[in-house]
Amino acid sequence: MPFQSAKAYARQAAVLTGQGLRWLVAGSWKRVFAILALASILVAAGGFFLASVGLVSISASSGHSPVTAWFLHYTMRNAVRLQSSGKVPPLNDPALIAKGAGHYETGCLACHGAPGRDQSLIVRQMTPEPPYLPPRISEWKPEELFWIVKNGIKFSAMPAWPALKREDEIWAMVAFLQQLPDMTAARYKELAHGDRDATTDEPVTPDHLRALADPLGPVLANCTRCHGEDGNGRGLGAFPKLAGQSEAYLLASLQSYASGDRHSGIMQPVAAGLDQPVLAALASHYASLPAGGETAEPAPSNESIRRGAELASSGVPERNVPSCIHCHGPKKSPRNDRYPAIEGQYSAYLKQQLELFSSEKRGGTAYAHIMHIAAHRLTPEQIQDLANYYASLSSATPPESQR
Ligand code: HEC
Ligand code: HEC
Ligand code: HEC
Repeated sequence: MPFQSAKAYARQAAVLTGQGLRWLVAGSWKRVFAILALASILVAAGGFFLASVGLVSISASSGHSPVTAWFLHYTMRNAVRLQSSGKVPPLNDPALIAKGAGHYETGCLACHGAPGRDQSLIVRQMTPEPPYLPPRISEWKPEELFWIVKNGIKFSAMPAWPALKREDEIWAMVAFLQQLPDMTAARYKELAHGDRDATTDEPVTPDHLRALADPLGPVLANCTRCHGEDGNGRGLGAFPKLAGQSEAYLLASLQSYASGDRHSGIMQPVAAGLDQPVLAALASHYASLPAGGETAEPAPSNESIRRGAELASSGVPERNVPSCIHCHGPKKSPRNDRYPAIEGQYSAYLKQQLELFSSEKRGGTAYAHIMHIAAHRLTPEQIQDLANYYASLSSATPPESQR
């Protein structure tokens, strides 16, 4: 019986405390230590006692007491300060900011809200309640925000980044967070929704209703936020062009994100929630769109493009880097549809993927190992030149199956 044992515990504790105190009166410094040790044992035993009889308050409805809330934040702040370090990359790149914004809408908005977007009513009943972030950002240095977004916070609902290898994506989130304090609702909408109307203040039209009745409609609407209505990636270099890409490669890539073989904290949560027939329909949709679109990327030097062209056609035989053209084109013979089209893709995206292959941080389809070998020995300058060259080509040669 819990109450009988509770009484017994209390009597025992009183007797022991009385004896202890008598012994300690007029003691030496050794006794001071003894007092402290005894006190800690008593506190621990008392805590365990409360927990074992079920008296500790765990209800979210009552919130934390001011002392607990202070102590938890004090602990968190000190841990983040001590454990965060590292070099902060430049964070004012518009592509990084847009990439962070796209994922903020997927993964953070529901808990933290955003300019013009309230936190959900359910989330506000959590303890601790996730804060509305814009006024909080200036409290933290960029490397501290990086640490929080990467690792999450234990004993709160703040999750860790879904793909820990992708520190580049976590920096994109930090780049977006830096902009948040001064952001207007319109700017947030533009960043996180791109050329697609955000769902909120549009009047509902028959077209909207028809789109909702289409089972693929809401899913495609989400892809569109980042990859653009036309599948050409919104011009920034943050999101790859999907339009006109080989269907087999698109489907295999979506499956590899869903299974976790290709690491991305941004694409994995999107793909993992979708069924196979939906993934197949999405791959077929994007493969059928015409490749093209505008780019806002800065124009590279002709010299870099020329070096890239040379590398793509001859490889680097002495370092075992193969010719890229053999698999990716441009060439007259048809391309194997398992090899992605990279002509006309954004330079920033190509560079990023080559860096990931070369540092073994990019998985992918069953053929991804080919690229680890191809990219492993490239220097950073060669990667930049190859990315500039392929981005400068106009559009992809459709693979055999799509001609
Ligand atoms: C399931 C809800 C949830 C999600 C999703 C979530 N967070 Fe949090 N976040 C929290 C909670 C809870 C805290 C801790 C609040 C506290 O310590 O009082 C927190 C704390 C933070 C903090 C520290 C704020 C401060 O000043 O104390 C930052 C920054 C943050 N989150 C960013 C993000 C980002 C970026 C994302 C998306 C990648 C995200 N969070 C996703 C719940 C969430
Ligand atoms: C929040 C923004 C965002 C959303 C929403 C999103 N994507 Fe992506 N997508 C990205 C980013 C960023 C990448 C590059 C990820 C990487 O580095 O691997 C990417 C990569 C891809 C790739 C790989 C392209 C390649 O050339 O290898 C495919 C395929 C893809 N997305 C399809 C989709 C589809 C289909 C949807 C909708 C179901 C979708 N994406 C929704 C941001 C997004
Ligand atoms: C033997 C064929 C082969 C060769 C040679 C080859 N690649 Fe690839 N490449 C592939 C395959 C297959 C993939 C798809 C990997 C995956 O995700 O599974 C790929 C993917 C890529 C990607 C990522 C595309 C995307 O949309 O995400 C880039 C960039 C790339 N290759 C560049 C190069 C460059 C530059 C070279 C020359 C140094 C090269 N490749 C040589 C077969 C090849």
